[in-house]
Amino acid sequence: MQVYAINGSPRPKWNTSTLLQSVLDGAAEAADNVLTETINLYSLKYKGCISCMQCKLVGGPSYGKCAVKDEIYELLQNASNADVLVFGSPIYFSDITGMTRCFLERLLFPYFVYDQRHSSIAPRKLRSAFVYTMNVTAEAMKEYHYSERLKPMEGFVGHIFGHAPHILYANNTLQVKDYAKYDITCFSEAEKLKYREEVFPLDLAKAKELGAKLGAEATGD
Ligand SMILES: Cc1cc2nc3c(=O)[nH]c(=O)nc-3n(C[C@H](O)[C@H](O)[C@H](O)COP(=O)(O)O)c2cc1C
Repeated sequence: MQVYAINGSPRPKWNTSTLLQSVLDGAAEAADNVLTETINLYSLKYKGCISCMQCKLVGGPSYGKCAVKDEIYELLQNASNADVLVFGSPIYFSDITGMTRCFLERLLFPYFVYDQRHSSIAPRKLRSAFVYTMNVTAEAMKEYHYSERLKPMEGFVGHIFGHAPHILYANNTLQVKDYAKYDITCFSEAEKLKYREEVFPLDLAKAKELGAKLGAEATGD
């Protein structure tokens, strides 16, 4: 079983990537022969969809696949043929990061058919999840309607790959190690550190459970 964690944070070793690693650990324990890999999107050079429409050109060499031959060209094919995709993104200005969005545009658009039913021509059904990390608390997240804002892209992933993605939110993350060094006055360092110590481990446990669930689901497919 192939499981990819797609890290949409520019920081390869901080909140989002740590949670993604727990998801991979959970998946690896859930089944035999699980191959896991983390892709750090910010280490790759690519753009979002450039609307060349080659993926929809009837009879064309790139029909149904992305024609742009850059650093994610092969990854897009590999990811589409995986058993599980776990997308991790920090929330930037109430949304996924630009690199996460650009990746998803390139991954999804070739499989999105402009027919009456908006059929999917993805090579296979697969299991997926979104892991979001953010500064705001769970209460503030509700107030700002983050879940609603994030739903459209989750819906497209579910539609294209045949199963609704699982969702995990990690709130009130520790953004920097030493708040005293930065011009950050709206958060209390003591409160952030306490949350990191007490709640982040619970988030990691939830991430591991999520990985186990994804692994079990993919095994049953
Ligand atoms: C450019 C930028 C914009 C951000 N916007 C938001 C936001 O709108 N809401 C929020 O809760 N956190 C926001 N954050 C905080 C990050 O989502 C949070 O620190 C996240 O856990 C970082 O993930 P990482 O540690 O994996 O990089 C923002 C951070 C940056 C750098």
